Amino acid sequence: MATLKFTVLAGDGIGPEVMQSALEVLRKACAPEGDELSYTECAVGGAAIDKFGEALPESTLQECRKADAILFGSVGGPKWESLPPNKQPERAALLPLRKAFKLFANIRPGLLYPELTDASPLKTERIPNGIDIVCIRELTGGIYFGEKKTYQKPDGETAACDTMEYKVSEIERIAEVAGQTAMARGKRVCSIDKANVLETSVLWRKTVTEYFKKHFPEVELSYLYVDNAAMQLARDPNQFDVFFTENMFGDILSDEMAVICGSLGMLCSASLGDIKNSLGNKFGLYEPAGGTAPDIAGKGIANPCAQILSAAMMLRYSFGRAQTASRIEKAVRRAVCSGVRTADIAFGKKPVSTKEMTQAIIENL
Ligand code: IPM
Ligand code: MN
Repeated sequence: MATLKFTVLAGDGIGPEVMQSALEVLRKACAPEGDELSYTECAVGGAAIDKFGEALPESTLQECRKADAILFGSVGGPKWESLPPNKQPERAALLPLRKAFKLFANIRPGLLYPELTDASPLKTERIPNGIDIVCIRELTGGIYFGEKKTYQKPDGETAACDTMEYKVSEIERIAEVAGQTAMARGKRVCSIDKANVLETSVLWRKTVTEYFKKHFPEVELSYLYVDNAAMQLARDPNQFDVFFTENMFGDILSDEMAVICGSLGMLCSASLGDIKNSLGNKFGLYEPAGGTAPDIAGKGIANPCAQILSAAMMLRYSFGRAQTASRIEKAVRRAVCSGVRTADIAFGKKPVSTKEMTQAIIENL
């Protein structure tokens, strides 16, 4: 029995709609254990720009610091696209949040239920048992956070550059997360880089090799260049079990993984670091990977599953409630597999609304 303290940052687009679903499911799922939710809702992203003039107001950051976890919706949308790039919701809210809480490890499970294989663009015979892989993305380093500038060349032409840098310690700590994840699964891990071209990748590969030799001798470590990895993922995703890679490559590969797994609407994620919360668990930020989906925002038809599954990850990693987390995950699976499906995963079935999907999940708890 405990009070689960977290900050709710619903954000823009479908964020607030699917967040309502997640909170409802959380409340229902936690009640039997006597766990109560205690959350503060704060403005972030475009909503915060409209209200406070900035995407990540100090007051929001302060609330997050007081909490044990952040449940994040999504930020951005056409309304704020004309702002200067460094003021836009994505760059001015999400990236500083990741940096502020040193959330260097982004865990994205690529899960496709066997019953849902027709939602994947891959032919069913390639994925007869669905997909079950994990993408681990380095989240606070590399080209996202290196020095950037736009400037004039001596001949007067305008140029811009972004810098990609990795320190050994940054590579080692993400290797540690990958190793631990592999130990809890199939003891197989693939490190993805571009060591045939990039200096950061050469260091990445060397560091990873040494780290696994020393700390995870039981784990089978393989390597792929990122271009080949993109192809392998589309050809035969289940050849992977756990793969891990630097920030930019992980951004791209995880979107590819999401579509192969049927829908962005099913993809949840956890961003973790080394900071402990007041319960001695990992502080984390939990978010669906699908974005704000402005085209369907406000229509009540968005798929709430990714947000709900992100909330389950929050229970597991930040609150030590693995059992409640699995109950939620099973309920989502049962609801979807019984044929209750929002439009993005309907494929011939009559699509249900966000509320109906949520209700079906609650009934399956
Ligand atoms: C993601 C998103 C973000 C990223 C954007 C919104 C900054 O695409 O979480 O994958 O690039 O990391
Ligand atoms: Mn992305």
